[in-house]
Amino acid sequence: MRKKVDFLVIGSGIAGLSFALKVAPYGKVLVISKTKLAETNTAYAQGGIAAVTYKPDDFKKHMEDTMVAGDHLSNPDAVKMVIENAPQQIKQLVEWGTGFDKTEDGKYDLHKEGGHSEYRILHHLDNTGHEIQRALLEKARQHHNIEFAENFYAVDIITQHHLGEITFRWRTDVKCFGAYVLNEKTGKVDTILSKITMMATGGIGNIYQTTTNPTIATGDGIAMVYRAKGIIENMEFVQFHPTSLYNPKERPSFLITEAMRGYGAILKKGNGQAFMEKYDPRGSLAPRDIVARAIDSEMKNTGEDFVYLDVTHKNAEETKMHFPTIYHKCLELGIDITKDMIPVVPAAHYLCGGIKVDLKGRTSILNMYAAGECSSTGLHGANRLASNSLLEAIVYADVAAEDAARQVRTIRHKTQIPSWNDEGTTHNEEMVLITQTNKEVEQIMSNYVGIVRSNLRLKRALDRLELIYRETETLFDDSIVTRELCQLRNKINVGYLVIRMAMMRKESRGLHYTVDQNKLRTKR
Ligand code: FAD
Ligand code: SIN
Repeated sequence: MRKKVDFLVIGSGIAGLSFALKVAPYGKVLVISKTKLAETNTAYAQGGIAAVTYKPDDFKKHMEDTMVAGDHLSNPDAVKMVIENAPQQIKQLVEWGTGFDKTEDGKYDLHKEGGHSEYRILHHLDNTGHEIQRALLEKARQHHNIEFAENFYAVDIITQHHLGEITFRWRTDVKCFGAYVLNEKTGKVDTILSKITMMATGGIGNIYQTTTNPTIATGDGIAMVYRAKGIIENMEFVQFHPTSLYNPKERPSFLITEAMRGYGAILKKGNGQAFMEKYDPRGSLAPRDIVARAIDSEMKNTGEDFVYLDVTHKNAEETKMHFPTIYHKCLELGIDITKDMIPVVPAAHYLCGGIKVDLKGRTSILNMYAAGECSSTGLHGANRLASNSLLEAIVYADVAAEDAARQVRTIRHKTQIPSWNDEGTTHNEEMVLITQTNKEVEQIMSNYVGIVRSNLRLKRALDRLELIYRETETLFDDSIVTRELCQLRNKINVGYLVIRMAMMRKESRGLHYTVDQNKLRTKR
């Protein structure tokens, strides 16, 4: 099948849907999602979305907190743009139907999370992402110019390479003409031609063994852009959330929101002793990289598989009211959080780097934008401040939409694009190869490219991954494409980028901590 649209949006999370809503007045939009439309990282977000709302908070404080958390590697222009645009975008989310919790006097009930100097997190109970996803999907479904396709898996973007031209990374005129997309209902790869393509494919958590991310987060967009010779940056900055619920049987790992530490929960050892003050004067509310490393170090010292988060000293009714999802989830596992400490462990959570974009959300590939977690805007620097991610996604989707709406008028569809070539491929019967290699990739990344790194571990990871890369490319060339095989290939590409960029950074900074350069900057 061959289809033409004005805007192809790959991804149905906050970035993809808010972009779609904003460009819909200017042309036909197709939003594709690799599984169900509502199965996104967005829907799993708990804590909320950061924005300056009331005094004594102000833009300067939010900018300073963002820069400090990012270990001063953030781009100040991106930081300023995102933070100053936040109130306007929150207003937009509310107009689209998102409900944020309010106090009895009608003001927004603001939470505080690690690294924030003020109360500024707007939230919907402890399941903010689910509420945002619901509202955006409902709104987008009402728009006559927006069409949706579920179980539509983007395999690769289409560029001059598919017309037989040689493309290379520093060529500045590589253009995107659309994407090859596997329709999982027919098993065929369709050709979607678009004037503008928005990459909004989310995170990479599943390259690790333990992650808070749903299984859709396999870094597809980053891998596709990398293969198409687009610029990728800052991949070494993988954020591990300090507190996911310890439950080795469960994937994804269930998150215990940072807002709980903002509410007063304290990290403790099994003997009930608090330990964070030893690592940082901000205690349990220090930025995530510091807390995750502290937990990692405590676990290594005690030999335990987890530490505890203790909220038992707080009022039980208030705890249940603020954190109903977490309360019920833990109760199902026999943990009453009003009486028992919660076993927690760090888990891969968020990627700060990704597809490099400018202040208009434009990638290095012409006619292609990126927004949300797959993009690298410069906002997060070496470490993301809690609840700045949903905000970044919606602000960048907005600036990208404004630019794309102007550009679309000047672009014509490229028509001579060949259909997907699957000549000589056979059905891949060996699912076990894919399953096993997936496990190997996750093990390599967790064992050698986790919270604490070293030159030796990175080198070992690269050597192991290169072998797997060669095997998988051969398998890909010989097989009819399946989502599982493409995802594996993408995870390998993305793992490779994390390792290479980690090797290139000759310092410990933010989320990238190596024992070989352990002059850890503590003054932040
Ligand atoms: P997503 O919401 O992940 O959407 C990705 C979309 O891309 C999906 O529709 C998927 O199907 C589609 N896709 C991917 N690959 C393909 C492909 N090959 N073909 C077709 N479609 C594809 N951030 C905050 O700011 N505040 C929070 O409180 C917060 N809490 C979080 C809690 C959890 C448990 C997690 C996992 C994350 C949290 N985050 C939070 C981070 C935040 O939720 C994400 O960074 C953000 O939602 C990403 O949005 P997105 O639109 O970029 O991608
Ligand atoms: C959380 O609720 O702790 C997650 C917040 C975030 O990732 O920004």
